[in-house]
Amino acid sequence: MLNGRSAFHRNGLTTEQQLEERSRKTELRTSANPMFITEIFMKMEESNKADNRELTPPYARYLVHLIRPFPNFDPFFIKPLRQRAVQLLQLKPGDRVLDTGCGPGGSFPYLVDAVGASGEVVGVEISPEITINARRRIEENRWNNVQVMVADARTVELRGKFDGLLMFAAADIYASSQALANLFPYLKGDARVVVFGAKLSHRRSGKVLNPLLRLLWKLSFASTPAVNYEPWAPLKNRVAEFHVQEHFLGCMFLAWGKILD
Ligand SMILES: C[S@@+](CC[C@H](N)C(=O)[O-])C[C@H]1O[C@@H](n2cnc3c(N)ncnc32)[C@H](O)[C@@H]1O
Repeated sequence: MLNGRSAFHRNGLTTEQQLEERSRKTELRTSANPMFITEIFMKMEESNKADNRELTPPYARYLVHLIRPFPNFDPFFIKPLRQRAVQLLQLKPGDRVLDTGCGPGGSFPYLVDAVGASGEVVGVEISPEITINARRRIEENRWNNVQVMVADARTVELRGKFDGLLMFAAADIYASSQALANLFPYLKGDARVVVFGAKLSHRRSGKVLNPLLRLLWKLSFASTPAVNYEPWAPLKNRVAEFHVQEHFLGCMFLAWGKILD
């Protein structure tokens, strides 16, 4: 109750009448004031940003802005592993390669080198924010044979077939049966698949880092498969000549193979 009157009958108007009055006032303000329209667009943009935020993993939400002015940034210790991962793809000039969960495109320089000017690199990245960084890298290096799609690897629809699939530090993809089932039909019969990622360590020296890895995993998407001792398990049955190599005290791994015909 409000001053003895029902809140639904403020100013003597029913709720419906109040809503109609409000909408009429809004229409008037909109037509009379272009600033009001700008305000609405800004609000829409804000809400889009909020939606996009949900598509960026929590660990990357600040980092992505921090590194944006440096399009070629990549941590130095990861470079030899990227080089090795790309070597294992055994790409040739003219090949087409898919980099899923490409992030800001840290593997692009090595992939571009491997496929040459006549080849093609296609990145798939779920976060529109992170894709901005990848596109800046492409512009900065004037690559015209690299493109990035904002899409979910679990459902993305691609054009044509690929000679290689890279999933570098992309647990949402290599440890997801759904993503693999969606991507594999886009691979040629002799395509090679390479994965790099984190795993729990069996080694005495690495075991101490397992709790830290589990903690860091909390900064991933809620849907990211939990880190375990064999995150390559969903991939293993899908590739022939499967190999795994451990790195960093058994807390990281490289795995590779070629697809089953
Ligand atoms: C740890 S980052 C690695 C990025 C990049 N591969 C690199 O080596 O720097 C993992 C990336 O996968 C992206 N990602 C996560 N789930 C995805 C999905 N379902 N489809 C496409 N990208 C995804 C994340 O947004 C993030 O950019």
